[in-house]
Amino acid sequence: MIRKARIADARAIHQLLVSYARDGLVLPRSLSDIYEEIRNFYVWEEEETVVGTVCLQVCWEDLAEVRSLAVAAETEGRGIGRQLVEVCLDEAKDLGIKRVFALTYKVAFFAKIGFVEIEKSQLPHKIWGDCMKCAKFPECDETAMSLDILP
Ligand SMILES: CC(C)(COP(=O)(O)OP(=O)(O)OC[C@H]1O[C@@H](n2cnc3c(N)ncnc32)[C@H](O)[C@@H]1OP(=O)(O)O)[C@@H](O)C(=O)NCCC(=O)NCCS
Repeated sequence: MIRKARIADARAIHQLLVSYARDGLVLPRSLSDIYEEIRNFYVWEEEETVVGTVCLQVCWEDLAEVRSLAVAAETEGRGIGRQLVEVCLDEAKDLGIKRVFALTYKVAFFAKIGFVEIEKSQLPHKIWGDCMKCAKFPECDETAMSLDILP
């Protein structure tokens, strides 16, 4: 059910993200941004419908971010979110990346997968580029969490 995103998934990914971006749970992403980044996205498909998505973005030699994680409300609570994050962790491991992080309000969800809270100051300045698109910038109230996946 999980697969790499294809270009034809971009609009469905956009729609999923729009619905949660309105509530400030994920950063809004334009369709053109999604096209540019499509190779970083995974989707969860059921009956030819995309009901979940996630994006793994490499930030630095030892660091990648799990972002744009969204599962359609009607399919929440079935383990889809966890599996979307885990496929990102597998890919990061294959790439030789040591640490994966997320900025999130869903602390309990990420904690169940093994992420721990960290100080935002531990993250490189480079990652804040996208945050400037956020209405809350620079008063970010999300929690930074990370998981060390390689020694
Ligand atoms: C957060 C989100 C991705 C979780 O997806 P999901 O498919 O419902 O989560 P899962 O079913 O895989 O849950 C995995 C575990 O986390 C727990 N969990 C999920 N959401 C939780 C929450 N909000 N609070 C506490 N625990 C949560 C589940 O109970 C489950 O625990 P278990 O392994 O003991 O059974 C989904 O709710 C969502 O898209 N939310 C809106 C967008 C969002 O906030 N995205 C995150 C941006 S960083």
